[in-house]
Amino acid sequence: ALRASFASKAQNENQNIQYHLQPQASFKVAVLGAAGGIGQPLSLLIKMSPLISDLHLYDIANVKGVAADLSHCNTPSQVKDFTGASELANCLKGVNVVVIPAGVPRKPGMTRDDLFNINAGIVRDLVTAVADNCPGAFIHIISNPVNSTVPIAAEVLKQKGVYDPSKLFGVTTLDVVRANTFVAQKKNLKLIDVDVPVVGGHAGITILPLLSKTRPSVSFSDEEIEQLTVRIQNAGTEVVEAKAGAGSATLSMAYAAARFVESSLRALDGDGDVYESAFVQSNLTDLPFFASRVKLGRNGVETLIPSDLQGLTEYEQKALEALKPELKASIEKGIAFAQKQA
Ligand code: NAD
Ligand code: LMR
Repeated sequence: ALRASFASKAQNENQNIQYHLQPQASFKVAVLGAAGGIGQPLSLLIKMSPLISDLHLYDIANVKGVAADLSHCNTPSQVKDFTGASELANCLKGVNVVVIPAGVPRKPGMTRDDLFNINAGIVRDLVTAVADNCPGAFIHIISNPVNSTVPIAAEVLKQKGVYDPSKLFGVTTLDVVRANTFVAQKKNLKLIDVDVPVVGGHAGITILPLLSKTRPSVSFSDEEIEQLTVRIQNAGTEVVEAKAGAGSATLSMAYAAARFVESSLRALDGDGDVYESAFVQSNLTDLPFFASRVKLGRNGVETLIPSDLQGLTEYEQKALEALKPELKASIEKGIAFAQKQA
């Protein structure tokens, strides 16, 4: 009886192991900047996904150890490391989703735009390699300033003749994650239920939470609206100041980016009910790029959700008009940078 019990235990364990090792889907994901503050926890979180068969980690240094470490997790994806420009093409071949958190973060006193001079070139070069090696992939841009790096990426892809606006995303999920958290705390709501649309861009006043559109429906005093809006807009700076020179948000960003990756993979896998927010090419306003909720499908953005911008309160309408000049200037700065280099 004892032997039988051991045998059945071993069989169960084998089944468990097989379950863990057998991918349920086989998407390939690459993280560019994988050894960084965001890259490492992001790679860990997406290593848990049953939808990924191959996880490619790229950085200019220190990625071997990260990959060796992660590869011991008994989840389905196979981890491979790629170091430096000479290995970038191999990293990208056949990849379905490319996530880009490469670049420098802010220190206290800096704006995201202060990162432009370094990060613009990094994003240009990485997206050039994406265009050459996996032009059909979903591209998730995390590197700041997102309001400029996404237009840079679009221009590079256009220059290469492979631009598909439905597949290029500036990752603004963290703004929604923060808005949901802060509103739930303030109004004592169950976190799981709260959904606040956040539109515009990803810097200062260009981040516009539409609190009047919070689901479930909830009422705010004018003071609460002002306080919550400003906190959501400054949440990145809140973390930069708390880290006091050691960088910006990494853990909450990794959580948010992992959610966006998982949503993209579900959409690629045929789930017809996937909605996320992102900074994308858009016709919802007179600006060429704008963050809003989008419906994702196998080919990327299927539809934008225009209803979020309808019936805004006076406060929101004013804030929307106020953010446009700054967002327009950041978009144009990115486009000009990419066109000058062409
Ligand atoms: P980090 O310095 O900890 O990591 C960046 C990584 O990028 C490093 O490992 C570095 O080696 C790598 N890198 C630099 N140049 C590279 C290149 N040419 N190719 C590949 N990798 C390269 O920084 P972090 O905290 O991970 O932040 C990364 C970026 O993400 C910053 O620009 C930051 O502002 C941005 N960010 C965006 C959001 C958002 O909501 N979109 C949130 C947080 C941070
Ligand atoms: C954030 O919103 O946390 C990021 O954009 C990083 C930063 O510089 O604030």
